[in-house]
Amino acid sequence: MSLLSAAAEVRKNAHAPYSGFKVGAALRSVEGNEYRGCNVENVAYPEGTCAEAGAIAAMVAAGDSRIAEIAVIADSPAPVPPCGGCRQKLAEFADPDVVVTLATTDGAELKMTVAELLPGAFDASFMDRT
Ligand code: THU
Repeated sequence: MSLLSAAAEVRKNAHAPYSGFKVGAALRSVEGNEYRGCNVENVAYPEGTCAEAGAIAAMVAAGDSRIAEIAVIADSPAPVPPCGGCRQKLAEFADPDVVVTLATTDGAELKMTVAELLPGAFDASFMDRT
């Protein structure tokens, strides 16, 4: 199954009663395993946790280290741009040239790299003097 199909599959499990906006994400780790995440909202923090964050959390919990490729899908008029927090998380766990496929359930697809999503990313190297 492609990463995009896996993202579409897990999207069905999203818990989005507040926004009504279901998102699915699937990634392949550099170790070669697939991890999935969907957005999970809650009444106290209705924005909840994003699908991308869920997939990354699953990867880390399983003991894998980095993202080789990731796909995100939602029922939106155009491929949905990851939120700022997710861009930072992607930059933490993926090299700048890693491809992020953004897709809609209608079949539109946009491929961007992590560097394109977060130019000038803050990373640990900026703390070298501490
Ligand atoms: N959301 C994601 O899961 N990923 C994105 O890339 C954009 C937004 C979720 C968060 C929230 O549950 C809902 O979409 C509306 O913001």
